[in-house]
Amino acid sequence: MGDLLVSKPIIIDSHKGSYEVNLQNGPISNLFKSPDQEAVYIIDEKIYKLYEAEIKPVIDYGRFILIDANERNKSLEKFPDYISSLMGQQMTRDQTLISIGGGIVQDITCFIASTLMRGVSWKFIPTTLLAQSDSCIGSKSSINSGDIKNILGTFNPPKEILLNVHFLETLAADDILSGVGEMIKVHAIDSPESFDRISSKYEELLREPNLMREFIFQSLLIKKKIIEIDEFDMKERNVMNYGHSFGHAIESATSFSIPHGIAVTIGMDMANFVSMKLQNTTEDNFLRMHDVLMKNSIVARKTFIDSARLIEALYKDKKNTKTKLRLILPDMKGRIKIGLYEKTPELSDHISEYLNLYHQI
Ligand SMILES: NC(=O)c1ccc[n+]([C@@H]2O[C@H](COP(=O)([O-])OP(=O)(O)OC[C@H]3O[C@@H](n4cnc5c(N)ncnc54)[C@H](O)[C@@H]3O)[C@@H](O)[C@H]2O)c1
Repeated sequence: MGDLLVSKPIIIDSHKGSYEVNLQNGPISNLFKSPDQEAVYIIDEKIYKLYEAEIKPVIDYGRFILIDANERNKSLEKFPDYISSLMGQQMTRDQTLISIGGGIVQDITCFIASTLMRGVSWKFIPTTLLAQSDSCIGSKSSINSGDIKNILGTFNPPKEILLNVHFLETLAADDILSGVGEMIKVHAIDSPESFDRISSKYEELLREPNLMREFIFQSLLIKKKIIEIDEFDMKERNVMNYGHSFGHAIESATSFSIPHGIAVTIGMDMANFVSMKLQNTTEDNFLRMHDVLMKNSIVARKTFIDSARLIEALYKDKKNTKTKLRLILPDMKGRIKIGLYEKTPELSDHISEYLNLYHQI
């Protein structure tokens, strides 16, 4: 992996043609020197404050809206305000939305781009590790309605992604771990060997920006393989939900107080435990993955996860059929596989047992 050409664009095929992830090596200000005069910008409020000097040309250009990136602001109920603001900026169908932020601002922009005037084009400048290493590709938008997370959505890839890893220098430690959680997930899905590779470099990865950059690109290359086979998430792509059925349920059971990728990290460990209890995978596989998953979720330890609330949320997961749970679990060889499982009392007991052990550590 050391010789990976990380400055080469990654080209993704999609139902709307191909689009590129372009790595920008220079200073962040290079991205904003000449604002696109046919665009309206949707900017994470924190990025606006942290990078005011760098994005000044966009601010002077004047056509932008700011969004405070939190799950409440990703709710359908907030969209009338966004639409009014955009239309107040004289947005027309032939113009582009340019999104600057993490997964939340991405989801909001992508959803608006899919529906505003029956669709406008959009570009993305991801500023969090989660968005740079995972969510920026794959076409999906997911927004919340009331307290149901990610229940509405569309498939609509951006026209281009401009990726500058310097944004990560201001990211909070928890948000770095959240992104690393998604990177671990992608590697686990690729193969047990890929998982072991990222797991063995875990500490180094957090210290070394160059290694981080290589793993970001490696994660995108793994995800590219899967989304190009099944962009619309009908079959093979379901595997990307490894750790997510449990992870979303953990987020819901803790009122979104655990960052998404950290909830996914705990969700992977829980999935491995449940798989072991169901005799789908070996104890060795559970233990092989357990240490790094624990390290990456240590910051969430102080948050209590209620087992009844978690199970209730898990049973409402949108991937379930009417009678069965769709879970993504490791098999005997540690390969991550999609399966349908009965909603049995034993399954709930395994989850409660996991949480009892989890809260004892
Ligand atoms: N559409 C998809 O394919 C997809 C995939 C995975 C996750 N998601 C969604 O993404 C969201 C999580 O995304 P996220 O982890 O990027 O979080 P986020 O967008 O909430 O950002 C996390 C925090 O970091 C701040 N921030 C952003 N960039 C920063 C920077 N460079 N420096 C300092 N602070 C910065 C934000 O203001 C926010 O407070 C969830 O809502 C999840 O459902 C979407």
